Amino acid sequence: MPRGSVSDGQPRIQEDEVVDTSDVNETLDEVATRLWRRGVRSGTWDPARIDFTVDRQHYADLGENLRLYLEAFAAAFFQAEENVAKVFGPWVMAAPTFTQQAFLSSQLFEEFKHADFFELAFRDLFGRQPRRALVNPVHDSLADKGDRLLELLETEGVERELAWVEAVAHYQGVIEGVQANAGYQIFRRVFADKQLLPGLAEGYANIQRDEGRHVGYGIAVLRHYAAKDPRLATRIREVFEEFLPLIQQRYGQSIVVDGKTVEPPPEEDGPAQLMKLYERRMRDIFGRAIATASTSH
Ligand SMILES: [Fe+2]
Ligand SMILES: [Fe+2]
Repeated sequence: MPRGSVSDGQPRIQEDEVVDTSDVNETLDEVATRLWRRGVRSGTWDPARIDFTVDRQHYADLGENLRLYLEAFAAAFFQAEENVAKVFGPWVMAAPTFTQQAFLSSQLFEEFKHADFFELAFRDLFGRQPRRALVNPVHDSLADKGDRLLELLETEGVERELAWVEAVAHYQGVIEGVQANAGYQIFRRVFADKQLLPGLAEGYANIQRDEGRHVGYGIAVLRHYAAKDPRLATRIREVFEEFLPLIQQRYGQSIVVDGKTVEPPPEEDGPAQLMKLYERRMRDIFGRAIATASTSH
């Protein structure tokens, strides 16, 4: 797939999600190796090389509502990327093999790079620090998952595996696999499809491709452990169910900026997108896990 580019006037943000799905017979180390290699080769874009010149004009020409919405939308992404970059270290340390740790170290680097991109966008496009962001309550308890991973780092057994699947289900499953993925599609529908904001579209397309690797690994992990032990499968389901009400708040929300209420644009269609992806993830994890479990006895 070509690098996100606007040279032909077509921002290459993907129409659909680009999750790097794995073969059900691949081991987790094989998945991690393949995604690591791909990250080393193609995860080399530089946020500082994205040009916001055209975006600045588009931004100035947007109506006030859409301008405030875009800024709140991007601010929520900025906060989320920065938050995860800060707390993701334990995921790297807790992965069960060197190979999986290597892959997750590339994810850690990429989360910092994504935060870097939004920092530059606020500086060079919006010309201000982020103000109001769309609320994002799913992130609030993420650091606790990392603390639990560190507590169990020197242990072996089901408690550690339960903490591992909880952490991966929360981050790679719910936040990246459902919520962030819905966000790329919303950006495309509201802005990129109208040939607006080519620099932001290039950044979102690059981030989406990186995230495809992160979610691809996460889904492979969850599928593996769900098939291995029903207690782990139950815990994964519980995490998804716990966060469902919170992710439903993420889009479709009106925001208040400087006393002015801003409604989401009709093309957002956020809640429906979120539910579609939620159900898709359930099938990715349990559809194949159930099929594997029923043929392995
Ligand atoms: Fe990210
Ligand atoms: Fe990510």
